[in-house]
Amino acid sequence: MRPPNGLAMWPADALAFFLGFLRDPVGVGSVIPSSRYLERRIVDAVGAASARVIVELGPGTGGTTRALLDAMPADARLVCIEIDPKFADHVARLGDPRLIVRCCSAEHIGDVLAEHNLPAPDTVVSGIPFSTMPADVGQLIARRVHDVLPPGGSFVAYQFKSAVAGFAAPVFGNHDLSVYEWRNIPPMRLWRWRRS
Ligand SMILES: C[S@@+](CC[C@H](N)C(=O)[O-])C[C@H]1O[C@@H](n2cnc3c(N)ncnc32)[C@H](O)[C@@H]1O
Repeated sequence: MRPPNGLAMWPADALAFFLGFLRDPVGVGSVIPSSRYLERRIVDAVGAASARVIVELGPGTGGTTRALLDAMPADARLVCIEIDPKFADHVARLGDPRLIVRCCSAEHIGDVLAEHNLPAPDTVVSGIPFSTMPADVGQLIARRVHDVLPPGGSFVAYQFKSAVAGFAAPVFGNHDLSVYEWRNIPPMRLWRWRRS
C-alpha cells in the first residue's frame, strides 16, 4: 500500500531507515529512503509493468520494493537481496506472494536465483552504495549481475556518486539511459546498461 497523499513516505519506514543508517552509515549510504519521484523513475527504467522476474539489490525499508510490486504483473516475481538483517525482515513483512527476500550480499545473486529455481531476470535494479565498497567487491557485483542477465536484460542503478559507472561500464559497455532526479535527498543519477 502506498503512503496517503501528502506523505512522501511511511513515517515508520523513514524512522527504520534512519536507524539503519545509524547502524551502518557507509553500507546504507543515505539518511532517508528514495522519494516517490525517484521510485517512479526506477519503475519506468526497469519496465516493471511487463517484467517477469526482477532482482532488487538493497531494498532498504522497501519503498522502492513497493513501487515495483505496484507496477509488476500479478504473476511476476521480485527477488530482494538485502545485506542488513533488520531491513530484510522489514521488507519481508510486505507479505506479497510475488516477493522473495534474501539476507545476503549482492555478489550472491546467481546462487539466490538458482536456489529459487528462477529464470534469468529481465532486470536487476540496485540502490547499493558502490562508492563506499571496496573496488574488488564492486567489480565482482557488476560482473555477477551481468552474468545472470539474458541478452537484452538491463542493469539499472541509482546513485548519488558515479562510482557504479566505473564498475559497470567495463562489463556492460555504454549505458543506454542516464537521467538525474533532483527531487530526491540527495539528488540521484540513474543509469541503465544492457547485456549485449
Ligand atoms: C541507499 S539504500 C537504498 C534503499 C532503498 N532501495 C531506497 O531507495 O530507498 C542502500 C541499501 O543497500 C543495502 N546494501 C548495501 N550494500 C549491500 C550489498 N553488498 N548487498 C545487498 N545490499 C546492500 C543497504 O543495507 C541499504 O538497505
